[in-house]
Amino acid sequence: MTVLRNIGLLATCRPGGGPEELHSERGAAVAWEDGEIAFAGPEEDLPGRFRGDGVREMDAGGRLVVPGLVDCHTHLAFGGWRAEEFEDRVRGASYREIAREGGGILSTVRSTREAAGDELVERCRGFLARMRRLGVTTVEAKSGYGLDRETELRLLRVYRRLREGPDAVPETVVPTFLGAHAVPPEFETDRAGYLDLLTDELIPEVARRRLATACDVFVEEGAFSVAEARAVLEAAREHGLDRRLHADQLSAGGGAELAAEMGARSADHLEHASDAGVEAMADAGVVAVDLPLASLYLDGPPMDARRFLERGADVAVATDFNPGTAPSYHLPLAMTLACTRSRLPPAAALKGATLHAARAAGVEQRVGSVEPGKRADLAVIDAPDPVSWLYHHRPNACVLTVTGGRVTWRADGERTPATGGAR
Ligand code: NIG
Ligand code: FE
Repeated sequence: MTVLRNIGLLATCRPGGGPEELHSERGAAVAWEDGEIAFAGPEEDLPGRFRGDGVREMDAGGRLVVPGLVDCHTHLAFGGWRAEEFEDRVRGASYREIAREGGGILSTVRSTREAAGDELVERCRGFLARMRRLGVTTVEAKSGYGLDRETELRLLRVYRRLREGPDAVPETVVPTFLGAHAVPPEFETDRAGYLDLLTDELIPEVARRRLATACDVFVEEGAFSVAEARAVLEAAREHGLDRRLHADQLSAGGGAELAAEMGARSADHLEHASDAGVEAMADAGVVAVDLPLASLYLDGPPMDARRFLERGADVAVATDFNPGTAPSYHLPLAMTLACTRSRLPPAAALKGATLHAARAAGVEQRVGSVEPGKRADLAVIDAPDPVSWLYHHRPNACVLTVTGGRVTWRADGERTPATGGAR
């Protein structure tokens, strides 16, 4: 049994209330046992069994405590980087031009096909270790840089290796199949053939082997049309996979509307979503995922989060970590950008990187809020409240991360909370 005491402000982020309702407590404590939260509330209400001998005590030092952050949209496993494209874009080339010339997604596909599973596993471990220090405890991870049977399955097996076995990572890793990220060069003149491979072979196989819980599609000019995406998502639904979409990122393409039609968990990007799309998503309960790092790196317009909030849709925030449009896994930075660029109030950005992100990724039963019965995933933030945290961006404001009840990160130095020797 462990208790984290002396919490200045506990933002539980439990469900209910408006987008800025964090269900916060001052002077709080959180207790957990066997990796699961048993109590969260005012310190004076802490049950007797969490006081006294045999209880490991930790001290939050009067700081802000939030649920372990959930990054609900990443392309975690990929080979290589694309720094040269970053420079080309700075010099004026557009993302689409670079893609048409064989760069972009297809460039990472080439490097990923060459990467061995072991190498990819080690890279992912490195990324996750750095995300952990920022307070991230759940990471959704997409395939999509293989685009052939062998490499797509290799990427999903990399995620399985991270989740299972004796050297599994502490994070909750949620795998998504993104075979419909681009049409690979082998099928350039046979799009229908690639779609058949996805719907008739890969989606059934991925579902049967339980290699992913969701299926994603990139709906965009130069990627997949609404009709093509519908066929992919119908196959996903038929095989019991959740549906997600990269929608309306570079142009208004009917992706938001399709997400609603398909009962998707989320539609992500949405910088160019139409009014009808926003409305349809809100009515269908589709989470709108804001990816402000991608719009920042592409120097495009931000998603307008308030359109979604005003219509009653839940808005999540994620990094979109990938080597092209968002080469950063810094979720707190994405949260600050969601405030300044997408006009998401800070409290809503926190709910968006915890509770709503968990729903987008399909893991809201286990993570995303500090509530009895959920996994003991917590981040201690060196700030008095969420507004101060996201306002004053620092390389890292997280001083302690607890993942599944274990301390997985603790900052050194004077900011280290007194942990009573516990680790
Ligand atoms: O989410 N939009 C499509 N996919 C990624 C970009 C992938 C890439 O450029 O490698 C995204 O932004
Ligand atoms: Fe993405």
